[in-house]
Amino acid sequence: MTERIVLAYSGGLDTSVAIGWIGEATGAEVIAVAVDVGQGGESLETIRQRALGCGAVEAYVADARDEFANEYAMPTLKANALYQGHYPLVSAISRPVIVKHLVKAAREFGATTVAHGCTGKGNDQVRFEVGIQTLGPDLKCIAPVRDLALTRDKAIAFAEEKGLPIETTKKNPYSIDQNVWGRAVETGYLEDIWNAPTKDIYDYTATPEFPPAPDEVTITFEAGVPVAIDGVKHTPLQIIQEMNRRAGAQGVGRIDVVEDRLVGIKSREIYEAPGAMALITAHKHLEDVTIEREQARFKATVGQRWSELVYDGQWFSPLKRSLDAFIEDTQKYVSGDIRMVLHGGQAIVNGRRSETSLYDFDLATYDTGDTFDQSMARGFIELWGMSSKVASGRDLRVQGK
Ligand code: ARG
Repeated sequence: MTERIVLAYSGGLDTSVAIGWIGEATGAEVIAVAVDVGQGGESLETIRQRALGCGAVEAYVADARDEFANEYAMPTLKANALYQGHYPLVSAISRPVIVKHLVKAAREFGATTVAHGCTGKGNDQVRFEVGIQTLGPDLKCIAPVRDLALTRDKAIAFAEEKGLPIETTKKNPYSIDQNVWGRAVETGYLEDIWNAPTKDIYDYTATPEFPPAPDEVTITFEAGVPVAIDGVKHTPLQIIQEMNRRAGAQGVGRIDVVEDRLVGIKSREIYEAPGAMALITAHKHLEDVTIEREQARFKATVGQRWSELVYDGQWFSPLKRSLDAFIEDTQKYVSGDIRMVLHGGQAIVNGRRSETSLYDFDLATYDTGDTFDQSMARGFIELWGMSSKVASGRDLRVQGK
């Protein structure tokens, strides 16, 4: 029987050409797999037809938007995950959901190999292949751009020669990856890290210099998950979409960073994640009110490690699973409302209320009604400083000799 290969298919030039290119190089039949993670643009049916027009023997399409929002974006929010303190893992969290569908399609269509369109320089090749190794250890991986010398020029020539139903003339100087959690733009003019991004780069956000009137929004959370906006219930997907719209209109969530790739290269990326950044801000502020201090401090460390694992392609690893369990446990009381003002590129929290709050007005107040016994503080400070005081006494003694 002819060998079958499932290909992660975006509908763009490179993966469209990859269908025939892989076929010619390996003699295998290619099954195109397109997964909707809220990247917008063309319909899955259009993409499916194009894949078939480019020579795929089958095309598998999946609307994974809710799955992505519930099982990938929500854990990222619970972790307040920002790789290197900046990047909300937009592309990094979409790869594992795509991998799940690739493996599912491989089983359904009897494929032995999985192909993807990544280059050999980035993180995404690692995320795809580590994910596939984990979920389908018997499956092989192939990347035509990296392994079969499929360059851009060759792709254009191939598409023209074979008359593939795909446009080859539209030249976008940027490499863009987007989904409902955000958008990543790199290459071209941005590779000079002194160059400021030009306005045409942005799509999810309006220019924050000319904001419309401030927009005040109240987000309700239940156990760490946003469930309503301004009192109206929504699914996680709808909440991300709505916050993309409202925070995006105010220019919230533009990020310009030089980041450390797993393969050891520093690279410059422009991100737009209006919904994600507004939601992470709101969620963190609710945690400040509802999570006990030591747990909160430790959770920040866990969140950072979680971000590194996910960035590095370890979504399905045992450590990531263990950290998920810790994070999930911290979210039990992260319920309540956060009110924030979206304006001029910022999302600023100005109110919080929660039935499970740890904020005790009577302890915090400086007015009458104060229940805090200030006389306890003297002894506490004495003991708190004791070990440093003893050490410092030793240092002075030794130095004095
Ligand atoms: N640097 C990001 C990451 O590794 C995004 C990668 C894809 N970016 C792109 N513009 N195509 O997760």
